Amino acid sequence: MTRMDHIALDEQARAILRGNDRGGYTVPTAGLYPYQWNWDSAFAAWGFATFDVDRAWTEIETLLSGQWEDGMVPHILFHQDDPGYFPGPGVWGTGRTPATSGISQPPVAATLARRIYETDPETGRARLRAVFPKLLAWHRWWRAHRCPTGVAAITHPWESGRDNCPDWDPGMKNVDGSNVGDYTRRDTGHVDPSMRPGKEDYDRYLAILQFGRECGWDQEVIVRDGPFLMADPAMTFILLRAHRDLAALARELGESDAELMGWAADLEAALPSIWNEDLSCYDARDLRTGEFAGVLGSGAFLAWYARVENPEMERRLMAVWNRVRFGIPSSDPAAPSFAPRRYWRGPTWPVVNSLIAMGFSGMGRDAEAERLRRETVELIEAGGFYEYFDPMDGTACGGRDFSWTAAIWLAWASPSAGRD
Ligand code: GLC
Repeated sequence: MTRMDHIALDEQARAILRGNDRGGYTVPTAGLYPYQWNWDSAFAAWGFATFDVDRAWTEIETLLSGQWEDGMVPHILFHQDDPGYFPGPGVWGTGRTPATSGISQPPVAATLARRIYETDPETGRARLRAVFPKLLAWHRWWRAHRCPTGVAAITHPWESGRDNCPDWDPGMKNVDGSNVGDYTRRDTGHVDPSMRPGKEDYDRYLAILQFGRECGWDQEVIVRDGPFLMADPAMTFILLRAHRDLAALARELGESDAELMGWAADLEAALPSIWNEDLSCYDARDLRTGEFAGVLGSGAFLAWYARVENPEMERRLMAVWNRVRFGIPSSDPAAPSFAPRRYWRGPTWPVVNSLIAMGFSGMGRDAEAERLRRETVELIEAGGFYEYFDPMDGTACGGRDFSWTAAIWLAWASPSAGRD
C-alpha cells in the first residue's frame, strides 16, 4: 500500500471513532455492542489522543463515572437501554446509576492514561489529577477483591475480556448451566453464530451472572462461594503493568507511589503459582480445583508487557506464533480446542497485538514488535477495521468498524503512529 492509502486508512479510523461516539463515550461497534465497555473505552481514548486529546480524557472520565462505591469500574456501562443487546441492565440487576454490569474488565486504563498524558502533559495535568484517585481506588479494588491467592483472578470469563478462550474450560466445566431458564441471545443475530460461543457456554455464563445477582453482587461471597474463580495470567500481567504505570503517574503528580509499587511487588512475587511446568509458561488456573488450563495463547504472551521473561517461555511462545501467518493467536493452533474463527478460541485480535507489541518494545525486542505490527497492518489493510481475524488466512471476522481496531491503528499500527 502507498503512503496515500495509509493516510486514507488513518482518516477512516478517525471517522470510525467519531461515528461510534455516543456523546462522551464510544461504543465498540454499532449493533453488536451498543454500550460503553471498559477496556474498549480505554483503547478508544488512546486512539482519540492522536487527534483530540480533550476527547480522549473525556472517554476515561465517562468510564470512571460508572465506578462503584467499593472502587470497581464495571465492564459495561448501560448509559441508555438498547433492546438489541443481551444480557442488558435488567438481567444484571445491579441497581446502579448509570446502570452497569456487576463484574470488571482488564485494567488497561492507567497504562493508556499514561500514554495519553505523555502526548500532551500540559493539557493532561488537570485531567489526570482529577481521575488519579479514581484509578487508584479501582486498583485497590483489584487488590482487595480479585487477588485472593496473590495473582489476579476472574469471577466470570467475561471479566477477562477474552470471553470464551480455552483458558476458562477447566472452571467452566464445573458450572451448572442447566437451570438458567429461557432467554434469547442477541449476539448471534448480529454476526455469524459459528463464530460465537456455543449455547452450553452461554447457559453457564448466565448461571454465573445469576449467582452474582442473587447475592446482591457481594464481592466477598462471589469470590468465596461463586461457581467460577480462575487465576488469569493476562489479567495478572495487565494489572502488574497498570500498577507500575499508575505509580509513575503518581510521581508525576507529586503523590506517593509506595502503595502501588508494593501491590506490584506482591503480584510479581505470586507469579510462580501460575507457572505451569508442563507448558514452561504462565497459565490460567482454576482456583477451586488447582487445575491448569494447559493451553498457550495470547494471555501468556502478555508476560513481556509486565516485564516478565524467561528463555524457556520464549521458546514455547515463539513456536506458537510461528504456527500462524498473522498476529498472535488467542489460542495455540496445536491444541485440540483451536478454532481459527470462533471468538477467543484461536483468532487474533489487533488490540491484543498492540499490548503484546508494547511489551516487546519495552523489553528491547524491536524485531518482534515490528513483526507483530506488520502482520497486524496486513490484516487491517486487506480486511478493514474488524473486531478480529483468522490468524491462518487473515479473514476478517466479528463486528466491523470496530472502535478499538481503529484506535490501535491510529496509536500504534499505522505508519503515521507515534510509536515508541
Ligand atoms: C467481547 C469481548 C470483550 C470486549 C467486548 C466489546 O465481549 O470479548 O473483550 O470488551 O466484546 O468489544
